[in-house]
Amino acid sequence: MWGGRFGAKPGEILQAINASIDVDRRLWAEDIEGSKAHAAMLAKQGIIAAEDAAAIQKGLDQIAGEIAEGKFAFRQELEDIHMHVEARLKEIVGDAGGRLHTARSRNDQVAVDFRLWVKRALQGTQEQLSGLIAALVETAGAHADWIMPGFTHLQTAQPITLGHHLLAYAEMAQRDRNRVTNAIANLDESPLGAAALAGTGFPIDREATAKALGFAAPMRNSLDAVSSRDFALEALAALSILSTHLSRLAEEIVLWTSPQFGFAVLSDAWSTGSSIMPQKRNPDAAELVRGKAAQAAARFAALQGIVKALPLAYAKDLQDDKAITFAAFDDAGLCLAAMTGMIGDLTFNRAAMEAAAGKGYSTATDLADWLVRELGLPFRNAHHVTGEIVKRAEDLRLPLQDVPLAEMQKVEPRIHAGVFDVLSVSASASSRKSYGGTAPENVRAQVAAWKERLK
Ligand code: ARG
Repeated sequence: MWGGRFGAKPGEILQAINASIDVDRRLWAEDIEGSKAHAAMLAKQGIIAAEDAAAIQKGLDQIAGEIAEGKFAFRQELEDIHMHVEARLKEIVGDAGGRLHTARSRNDQVAVDFRLWVKRALQGTQEQLSGLIAALVETAGAHADWIMPGFTHLQTAQPITLGHHLLAYAEMAQRDRNRVTNAIANLDESPLGAAALAGTGFPIDREATAKALGFAAPMRNSLDAVSSRDFALEALAALSILSTHLSRLAEEIVLWTSPQFGFAVLSDAWSTGSSIMPQKRNPDAAELVRGKAAQAAARFAALQGIVKALPLAYAKDLQDDKAITFAAFDDAGLCLAAMTGMIGDLTFNRAAMEAAAGKGYSTATDLADWLVRELGLPFRNAHHVTGEIVKRAEDLRLPLQDVPLAEMQKVEPRIHAGVFDVLSVSASASSRKSYGGTAPENVRAQVAAWKERLK
């Protein structure tokens, strides 16, 4: 491509470090699309002849067919996808092919290809997030009043409903989706026509190519256009945060499906066995989702490190943006599919969850609240009285609702039998009707609202 000025080919090691074709061949469709838009614009502006543009379009279509059918020869010495397509175009259409690169550089070419790719990948992520939210909402609706322990510090805290727990993840996924939507809106400008870095003297129409490629507008500054990768960074940040959310849910699946918790089982389709321990059912997919969140975060850091302190405009460091970004989207796609699948697959054990919800004096707050409501104690005093009753229950080895009234009255004589109404786990969960609270009626209302939103 630059043979005119050079007497010899690049050395072997330079070729090895420089070639990106094994990675950026994934941009082939976007590269051809960008070239078609560029060629059409060049002809329309009278920069190249209409016949040449027609030959270029035809040649590019043929190349697209060859690549799609796996008949295209990729060669290391042609460095990247842009040079592959251009070299093949010249083979097919001759001199006309050499006119395609008028008023264009690989710098704006790769920027536009990669932006298009990331935009589409983000749209795929959006759809997958909608699928995950739908699965969470569906499962939440089916378990709106199933009682389970709510934890803080992974210590039993208060009884909650499973539906409420699952909807917490729907909320996170919705914010993840918003982040993805914002990232798409932010990247929706075309760098094509920025050329190497300074723009061009040819009378190009950047509005036209931006529009042809589905971008809202052309980027306003040519230096920014060829050197910015914050669109990819923003995408990786969004993927990193969503992967972090998935890892929390994955960890809960690991806990819930353990024999110690026994809250849920995954079907055979989502479980693996052990080569030595015949009894094992391992939640491998959940563990991998949990682990992969680390790589999602690392990929953001890796790309940020590439861009950090890089002077304007383009520098070859940026070539490595793609391997990182492709891997991030591949993993995120798999993790979202796995979580959506597992959420739909889990079978919950109502009795085990409810029994666990009653352990650890989980209705102690309800007792304290009752003392405030019924006896008019200040909450701090009620907290203290309840603490003493819990201590007695511990000594007697009884759950709170089985402590005899007389024992409670030794701590606070005004306690009466009405207290037992609030000490069961289901009464506790049902009472929490404050906006955003765990009560089954709240869960049902939220599920209905989600279904409306998902339509
Ligand atoms: N393969 C290169 C990349 O991905 C394309 C741009 C090359 N530009 C250049 N000035 N060498 O970044």
